[in-house]
Amino acid sequence: MSYLLETKNITKRFGGLTAVDQVSMGVEAGEVVALLGDNGAGKSTLIKLISGVYKPDEGEILLNGKRIEIESPIDALAQGIETIYQDLALAENLNVYSNIFLGREKTRKAFGIIDVLNHAVMADESRKVLDRLDIHIPSLKSTIRTLSGGQRQAVAISRSIYWDAKVLIMDEPTAALGIAEQKKVLNLVKSLKNQGIAIIIISHQMYDVFEVADRIIVMRRGVKAGEVLVKDTTPDEVVGLIVGSETVKK
Ligand SMILES: Nc1ncnc2c1ncn2[C@@H]1O[C@H](COP(=O)(O)OP(=O)(O)O)[C@@H](O)[C@H]1O
Ligand SMILES: [Mg+2]
Repeated sequence: MSYLLETKNITKRFGGLTAVDQVSMGVEAGEVVALLGDNGAGKSTLIKLISGVYKPDEGEILLNGKRIEIESPIDALAQGIETIYQDLALAENLNVYSNIFLGREKTRKAFGIIDVLNHAVMADESRKVLDRLDIHIPSLKSTIRTLSGGQRQAVAISRSIYWDAKVLIMDEPTAALGIAEQKKVLNLVKSLKNQGIAIIIISHQMYDVFEVADRIIVMRRGVKAGEVLVKDTTPDEVVGLIVGSETVKK
C-alpha cells in the first residue's frame, strides 16, 4: 500500500500519561479514513501530531514515503496538511472571499504605486473553487456571520482546497449541523475524495462514517485497537472495537 501520509509507531506522552501509544496508520490519496474511539481515546492528540500542534516523543511521520518534520501548524499547512477544527477559525465579520484569502490576500497597485486589496481577483478565484466543489453560496460578499453552519464548513473546506491541501483532517465536521446540511458536507467530502485528497475524519456519527469512509481506525486508551475496511464490517463490530468487547484486529 502506498500511503500519502503515514505515521509509524508514533507516541505522545503528557507527563505520566501516554495519550498516543505507538500508533501506525496511514491514508492514501483519494481515500477517507475515519478515526473512531471513545472520549479520551487519543484521537485529537493523534490529529494534533499530524497537524503540527504537538511533536511526537517517538515515531515518525511520512509524506509521500519521505520522513518529514512538522515544526508547527503553519509548517503543516506549507506541507499541504490542512486541519478543519470544530470552531473553524473563520472571521465572522469578513465576507466569504476575504475568508478564503485570509492572511494570504491578493493585492494590486493603485495608481501604479499603492498596494490595495484586489477584491475582483479574490472574488473570482473564490467563485471558481466553490463551483469546482459544487458549493452554492449566492453572494460571496455575505459575511460569515450570516451563513448557515454547513455553508461555513464549505467555506473552510474551500479555503483548504484553494491553498492546495493534499491531506485534509476534519474533527467532527457534521457535529453542529442540521440533517440537510450534514448531507451536503458528506457530499462535499465525497467530492474531495474524488479529486484525490487524502481525508482523515473524526466523527461520532456512525451513519456518517459508513456513508463516506473507506477505512476505519479505532483508538482505545491511546493504542490502535483495530482497523477495518468499511465494506467488510458492520456498525456493531465497530462499536465492539470502540468499547473493547470485540477481539483486537490490526
Ligand atoms: N494537553 C494535554 N495535557 C494533558 N493531557 C492531555 C492533553 N491533551 C489530551 N490529554 C489527555 O490525553 C488523552 C487523550 O485525549 P484526546 O486525544 O483529547 O482524546 P479524544 O480526542 O479521543 O477524546 C486523555 O486522557 C486526555 O485527558
Ligand atoms: Mg477529541
